[in-house]
Amino acid sequence: MSVLKKEHFSQFSQIETTRLLLKPMDTKFISNSYLQWMNDEEVCKFLETTIPYSEKELQEFVKLMVSKKILFWAITLKHDGTHIGNIKIDPINYKHQIGEYSILMGDKNNWGKGYAKEASQALISYCFETINLRKITLGVIKDNVVAVKLYESLGFTIEGIYRMHGKYDGKYCDAIRMALFNFENPKVQNYLHNKS
Ligand SMILES: CC(C)(COP(=O)(O)OP(=O)(O)OC[C@H]1O[C@@H](n2cnc3c(N)ncnc32)[C@H](O)[C@@H]1OP(=O)(O)O)[C@@H](O)C(=O)NCCC(=O)NCCS
Repeated sequence: MSVLKKEHFSQFSQIETTRLLLKPMDTKFISNSYLQWMNDEEVCKFLETTIPYSEKELQEFVKLMVSKKILFWAITLKHDGTHIGNIKIDPINYKHQIGEYSILMGDKNNWGKGYAKEASQALISYCFETINLRKITLGVIKDNVVAVKLYESLGFTIEGIYRMHGKYDGKYCDAIRMALFNFENPKVQNYLHNKS
């Protein structure tokens, strides 16, 4: 695909990794567990959502995302189908071939097992190889140390810092902008060429 256009995403695909299936988001993924994630102080500490987060808000959010046909997947465990998180690329700048990536692993029992990294590597490959993005961007709160480490381990580098950009976990924190290009990055090249 040489020219990126929105209509290419009218039906986007499921992505399979060694341990995960990333399934296009659907209202069937709305559940008590998903609602609990959105009301969990630890999960949402560095996110923009506010607690309490109602079931109605969750329904409206998922319905809106599905109707907009954005690239938004539920991350599920291959062996038993458990929904453990979400990952998306939104918005996409079609002219400049740039997409904004974000991830939420809501199921805390499955933190630290490499699932976010596995899902993200697969998504990055999809963005660069299948839909021909040139650059993937993200925003993260500096104090979200685990997330920053995850992004660095994926090859993202810092492009800029918004100082004391918002109040998280009771204090004003810096927000970091990071990016990953489809070229020049040894880590990306490495796993694009050694994909499991
Ligand atoms: C941040 C988050 C996505 C990490 O998910 P995860 O599945 O636990 O992460 P992984 O197990 O794949 O670990 C990926 C990398 O993160 C880092 N990491 C994971 N757990 C860590 C910990 N406890 N301490 C420090 N670094 C850690 C490591 O660098 C790891 O890579 P490595 O093992 O190759 O070194 C998850 O904690 C989360 O969703 N948090 C709440 C929502 C959020 O903050 N999202 C990001 C918004 S910008």
